[in-house]
Amino acid sequence: MILPSVIPAIGNTPLVDLSRICQRLDLDGRILAKLDYLLPGFSKKDRAARSIVELARAEGTLSPGQTVVELTSGNMGTGLAIVCGILGHPFVAVMSAGNSVERARMMRALGAEVVIVPQAEGSKPGEVSGADLALVDEVAQRVTADRNAFRADQFGHSGNPKSHATGTGPEIWEQSGGTVTAFCDFAGSGGTLAGVATFLTPHGVRCYAVEPEGARAIAGEAIINPDHPIQGGGYAMDDLVHLNGTSVAGHLSVSSEAARDGARMLARTEGIFAGYSAGANLAGAIELLRGPEKGGCVAIVMCDSGLKYLSTDLWE
Ligand SMILES: Cc1ncc(COP(=O)(O)O)c(C=O)c1O
Repeated sequence: MILPSVIPAIGNTPLVDLSRICQRLDLDGRILAKLDYLLPGFSKKDRAARSIVELARAEGTLSPGQTVVELTSGNMGTGLAIVCGILGHPFVAVMSAGNSVERARMMRALGAEVVIVPQAEGSKPGEVSGADLALVDEVAQRVTADRNAFRADQFGHSGNPKSHATGTGPEIWEQSGGTVTAFCDFAGSGGTLAGVATFLTPHGVRCYAVEPEGARAIAGEAIINPDHPIQGGGYAMDDLVHLNGTSVAGHLSVSSEAARDGARMLARTEGIFAGYSAGANLAGAIELLRGPEKGGCVAIVMCDSGLKYLSTDLWE
């Protein structure tokens, strides 16, 4: 089949049985990994980017040729750079200096204008906090107003969770032959968790939130330590709009070491070269099979490519 562009190539990623990891760790149950790092922008956020732009164009909130602006850890921006480039919208990505440099380079390569925002006082490179994100948001708002642009708004636009309610969730269900019993996800905007839960919860699948140890805002805990290297989420925000009304079955906590070990184990044991948050999701799934979901089948998403972390400590 010949596709008219890479946009319809966003979706329908393979689902892989992590049987080698389960065997090695002697786990009772199964872990199925959705390989979203194979999408055109090498991350699951291509789905949200496509969905938001397509919905906004259909609704008329995004006019032909209008500039699109978004706050991004790099992945949403890469997805938007691809979709906007093909559909003829100039795109401005606003990103924290705390995110890895290869992300900015990739967005620029795809034709985006990238605005880098210095981190808040006391923040460390490679560790983007809620305070850093607030600074990025301020700049994104200003650029949106200055350019009379459309703000993609991954934290608020319904197209984000919708892409997972109509894509990721149904794909997992169909590809697994309806055998999945649980799903867990490291939340950033919460779009993946909310969307997948919308589709899978009515099928009896329990959906869990994964958060960094010490920064468990969704679990309703006090923030003890907002610093962690898991890019793309764990912002310690307790007002994630997409998760309003989502029935979360439970809350998991993942340390930076467990996320790092998880990503390394995925690479060495399964040949899956993914990033920190994929490692966090694996750590969450392992915890579930050792605890409340023993004997079950846990689905997780391999959020982005390990290539996006070559400048970090992940592969040292
Ligand atoms: C690498 C990575 N992991 C996880 C997430 C969180 O996904 P979501 O925003 O759907 O909660 C993101 C979001 O940008 C991401 O880039």
